Amino acid sequence: MTSAPSPPDRYALVGHPVSHSWSPFIHGMFARATLQHMQYRLIDVTADRFRAEAVQFFVDGGKGLNVTIPHKQAAVGFVNELTARAEEAGAVNTISLTQDGELLGDNTDGIGLVLDLEQNLGLALAEKRILVLGAGGATRGVVGPILARRPNLLAIANRTVARAVEIADAFSARGSLAASGFDGVEARPFDLIINATAASLHGTVPPVDAAVVGRETVCYDMAYAPGDTPFTLWAEKLGARATHKGWGMLVEQAAEAFLIWRGVRPQTRAVLELLTAKGRELPRVTPPGSGP
Ligand code: ATR
Repeated sequence: MTSAPSPPDRYALVGHPVSHSWSPFIHGMFARATLQHMQYRLIDVTADRFRAEAVQFFVDGGKGLNVTIPHKQAAVGFVNELTARAEEAGAVNTISLTQDGELLGDNTDGIGLVLDLEQNLGLALAEKRILVLGAGGATRGVVGPILARRPNLLAIANRTVARAVEIADAFSARGSLAASGFDGVEARPFDLIINATAASLHGTVPPVDAAVVGRETVCYDMAYAPGDTPFTLWAEKLGARATHKGWGMLVEQAAEAFLIWRGVRPQTRAVLELLTAKGRELPRVTPPGSGP
């Protein structure tokens, strides 16, 4: 008599809305490539039901959750333990069940961005002048991992200046930081400019001085969309060396989550190529911080 095959280990993305998420596609490809017996589904739940649904998922034997908008902050209070990077980001995007039965909250967004910049795009961050536009959750998640690469300057500019100042203060011991409104940014070229605002969703570009973009400047929009975003169009018009969107960050943060859950890091290149090809057919801009 042959025994019944064991059921797949269960993972999910919890958020609202999640129907447009690429995570089931990405993790499905990772699982096939690494021969992992698992499934990954979407759980669409509003803020008032997040906790109850997440508890139920683990009570039912679930092994791990990805968390996205609008639950990343709520997930900090849901887990038993936080990794240092989740604690400093003030947000959790990956929950795993430890061997002791505890829920561990982690954040792979920042390392996902840094790995995309370094490994997929071949950019070094050390000793560079970097400008981040925006001071919301997406920015908070990436500041620590960027500073760990020792840039010469990390300038944070935001519509609401106080939010930029708050983040710069929180990380002041970790590197050279500046905080300002958009009109307070030093008007000379940066090596790298990262758009972490939701301005693309409104069809606008943060109003920083055009002099921040020089011929060697690389511009990265954390949003991903088919074709150009308002930010990448703006950068191209100003003669930036290159423009990129956040597809690679999306795939790399997923690979880091997969590594936490399964102990194996999948190759990302094939998934990224497929996704950017598919992404050209996508109907809308997806905001920063909305991954996975
Ligand atoms: P997230 O978690 O995605 O970062 P958030 O916390 O709501 O979301 O932050 C969104 C960011 O986009 C903020 O920096 C916000 O600026 P404020 O802090 O002043 O609100 C920025 N943002 C949103 N709409 C914008 C716009 N039209 N122009 C410029 N910045 C905008």
